[in-house]
Amino acid sequence: MKMVQAMTSSVLTLVSMIFLYASLLASATPTYNVVSLGARGDGKTDSSKAFLCAWDGACGSAYPATIYVPQGRYLIASKTIFVGDTCKNNAITVHIDGTLVAPSDYNVLGHSHNWIAFENVNGVSIYGGTLDAQGTALWACKSYGKNCPAGATTLEFSNSNNVVVSGLTSLNSQMFHIVINSCNNVKLQGVKVSAAGNSPNTDGIHVGGSSGVTILSSKIATGDDCISVGPGTTNLWVESIACGPGHGISIGSLGKDSQESGVQNVTVKTVTFTGTQNGLRIKTWAKPSDGFVRGVLFQHATMVNVQNPIIIDQNYCPGNTNCPNQVSGVKISGVTYQDIHGTSATEVAVNFDCSKQHRCSKIILKDVHLTHMNQPALASCVNAEGTSCGSVQPTSCL
Ligand SMILES: *[C@@H]1O[C@H](CO)[C@@H](O)[C@H](O)[C@H]1NC(C)=O
Repeated sequence: MKMVQAMTSSVLTLVSMIFLYASLLASATPTYNVVSLGARGDGKTDSSKAFLCAWDGACGSAYPATIYVPQGRYLIASKTIFVGDTCKNNAITVHIDGTLVAPSDYNVLGHSHNWIAFENVNGVSIYGGTLDAQGTALWACKSYGKNCPAGATTLEFSNSNNVVVSGLTSLNSQMFHIVINSCNNVKLQGVKVSAAGNSPNTDGIHVGGSSGVTILSSKIATGDDCISVGPGTTNLWVESIACGPGHGISIGSLGKDSQESGVQNVTVKTVTFTGTQNGLRIKTWAKPSDGFVRGVLFQHATMVNVQNPIIIDQNYCPGNTNCPNQVSGVKISGVTYQDIHGTSATEVAVNFDCSKQHRCSKIILKDVHLTHMNQPALASCVNAEGTSCGSVQPTSCL
């Protein structure tokens, strides 16, 4: 009898310990399922409140927390901002198996700057998911030259640190697909962007004013730049990207403002451009500015029928207005092109059109092989200085 009692009590102790441990584990990684909080994956019930509710829960937890979005289509019917100012949490995982859908009427979001945004967050990781911004009607409006709203960026992180976006798909944004603005330590990996080749201002990924951003293994098909880099971007790493259709990878436009932070230490490697307007581009406004571009490595790029495979354009002045004397103040120096090969859709495959006030300097061409219709292509240099080494075709004009 005693023994049975002892055994029973020790079994009870064991069971209660297991429960305690399980509940500790659960409290250590609480999961906020948006469906439990009222979201509906029916594509027509506005679920934004449930998402914000999940965010508040995760933020309020001092332990790592997960926000879970099951399969289904969730309408996010208005501009939705996840704010981190009062977050106790610096390890929030957003695991998305479903699709977030924007309203089909572009007037609902068209005047908002953003659709989905994270502001002042620290330690947010998004895994999986699709963001369907349903931008096609707005693009059509713009193509008719009608009076249309500018459109919303699909996903933006601003003033945030330690961010991961992995395996996310962004479809048919009204404007830019993904924006990283004033952030530190951001990793984007396995991202897919898809929009029509003629869709206006639908940049794939825009990075501005940020440091330590890494973009890896991503596939971007869109109507504007696949990746664009704005003022104040430093320590940017871009690797293994498929770009096209689109306008290529662009540092700039820079130098729109007279006082502007520079772009420094950018690596872009192993990129395939297919049928794009540009390949590797640096673009600045033809107006006074104290901006600069320093320390850029473009390495291992394949061009497939690209209109401007290698281009520096310091004479950007749309509409030829507000560009006194057409001279860019942006200083470009230390740009290396190494192992760049493939086909150019135009005769001039290498085009350095630099500022007469600040000549481009320390441009290096190394092992470049670009052809146009099976013939050697041409290179054009204006105000550009540098060297070439290895085999370089078209023959360098530096
Ligand atoms: C340049 O940026 C890379 C990340 O892209 C970083 O690892 C490296 O330390 C930076 N170099 C300098 C000199 O800051």
